[in-house]
Amino acid sequence: SPVVVAIDGPSGSGKSTVSRAVAARLGLSFLDTGAMYRAMTWWMLANEVDVEDAEAVAIACGKPVIVSGTDAAGPTITVDGQDVSGPIRGPEVTGKVSAVAAVPAVRARLVELQRGCASHAERGIVAEGRDMGSVVFPDATVKVFLTASERARAERRAAELRAKGVDEATITAMAADLARRDAADSSRETAPLTQAADAVLVDTSELTLDQVIDTITALVEE
Ligand code: ADP
Ligand code: CDP
Repeated sequence: SPVVVAIDGPSGSGKSTVSRAVAARLGLSFLDTGAMYRAMTWWMLANEVDVEDAEAVAIACGKPVIVSGTDAAGPTITVDGQDVSGPIRGPEVTGKVSAVAAVPAVRARLVELQRGCASHAERGIVAEGRDMGSVVFPDATVKVFLTASERARAERRAAELRAKGVDEATITAMAADLARRDAADSSRETAPLTQAADAVLVDTSELTLDQVIDTITALVEE
């Protein structure tokens, strides 16, 4: 049966970068499930749904058509046919995505789409998020829980923002937002971020990207 590699962990642990590289190296598809929660959130904001109102979000969440392109060489995400890969990374979506992701109806809908992506992947898939090993793919071939110290994660995010020319006050605010989002993702009732019992823990704090990619590739090839 096709390979499923499930990678979970908090923000800035390296999930997207590492998962995409492992998928490219092994010729597998790649799925960034955080982008799907971000796309749903982007649609809610664009359509003036009150994202703090869980009932309103639950009622609306069946409407947007969210499509993820799973080519590791160039992943894509569209909502109702519109490319939203840029706007879903902005501070408005980042600030609201945890509230939207905590709504059970949103998760039920996106989990179904995620399983569909995996079933259509020709050779298999590397899927990354918060609940890949615990909920979406309980029978995954390999499960990895990526972590890094809060400091390392905050520093990586800060370096990314600095490279984009973002000012220091905004970087400090984004670091606080990251800590708040991790706490929300870890404490929500539905599918909180947790390490699955059979997941391999990889702490990336003191590792280079290449070392992490090699470690996970080796786990899949075992
Ligand atoms: P996540 O998807 O878990 O939020 P990302 O893949 O976006 O994490 O990584 C956040 C940033 O940290 C990126 O700029 C990435 O290049 C960098 N990074 C990830 N892993 C490492 C590592 N082991 N060593 C150094 N930098 C890393
Ligand atoms: O890029 P970053 O690591 O900061 O976040 P992301 O992976 O893009 O995910 C954005 C948000 O989506 C997370 O903070 C979670 O609230 C939610 N999410 C989730 O609930 N379940 C997933 N499988 C993936 C993301």
